[in-house]
Amino acid sequence: MSAAQTAVVTGGGAGLGEAIARRLHEHGYGVAIADVDGYAADAVAGQLDGSGHTAKGYGVDVRARAALEDLLSRVLTDFGGVHVLVNNAARTRATPLLEITTDELDDVLAVNVGGTFQACQIFGAHFAEQGYGRIVNMASLAGQNGGTATGGHYASSKGAILSATKVFARELAPRGVTVNAVSPGPQDSPMVRSIVGEENLESFASTIPVGQLGDPAFVGDTVALLASPAAASVTGACWDVNGGLYLR
Ligand SMILES: NC(=O)c1ccc[n+]([C@@H]2O[C@H](COP(=O)([O-])OP(=O)(O)OC[C@H]3O[C@@H](n4cnc5c(N)ncnc54)[C@H](O)[C@@H]3O)[C@@H](O)[C@H]2O)c1
Repeated sequence: MSAAQTAVVTGGGAGLGEAIARRLHEHGYGVAIADVDGYAADAVAGQLDGSGHTAKGYGVDVRARAALEDLLSRVLTDFGGVHVLVNNAARTRATPLLEITTDELDDVLAVNVGGTFQACQIFGAHFAEQGYGRIVNMASLAGQNGGTATGGHYASSKGAILSATKVFARELAPRGVTVNAVSPGPQDSPMVRSIVGEENLESFASTIPVGQLGDPAFVGDTVALLASPAAASVTGACWDVNGGLYLR
């Protein structure tokens, strides 16, 4: 593998994760795309670099600590190092609050909170050991305002990710590792299109102060900025990309 720095993007097989992986690759990173849908991860990696030198897919379920440990060691073998982790994998559900079952609650929390937290531990330890690293956690507007189109379990999980971002940022700051969050409002992504419905998109967009859905490629640029070596003094932050839906 030949890129100067390597980034791992969880949930990079679709949606915003794919856009983030594409942008990081354009910015010169080797990209390890880890997704529970290993075929989707391979497909995105294949589009970025058919030779597999600077992009590679991995079938990984972020709920499993052993799978994340295995991912770290495989990426180190394949790319020779790792410098950036983007915790993007998530389960997005819009079930009405009082109808959320225990199984669905456990599932959303296990992927969104458990996956992010454990990956921060495993990759954070490696980054701390090497004295450099960048972690970017995908939070959500829902974690800040309680959610609108999405469910209460999803919103709660995203709030937990914002707290975890601060906890890991404080712990890892003296070791050359920054940990930040990006908090998108509704983006023009397959997930938003399916939750809102194609026929409602225009009226939905008109409820956003800037009058349009966000652009996933810009979320990718935001992640790339936080992932860059130059972003050394930003840590424990949450950068909002919400079209003015939530001002603070
Ligand atoms: N789309 C939006 O407008 C929006 C808004 C706010 C926040 N976000 C956040 O951005 C991130 C991406 O959102 P999206 O809309 O692209 O989601 P998506 O559902 O389209 O894609 C999520 C990806 O994560 C993968 N994934 C799910 N469970 C996994 C697991 N256990 N292990 C590994 N991979 C798993 C899926 O296979 C999929 O490829 C999420 O963290 C989401 O909360 C998105």
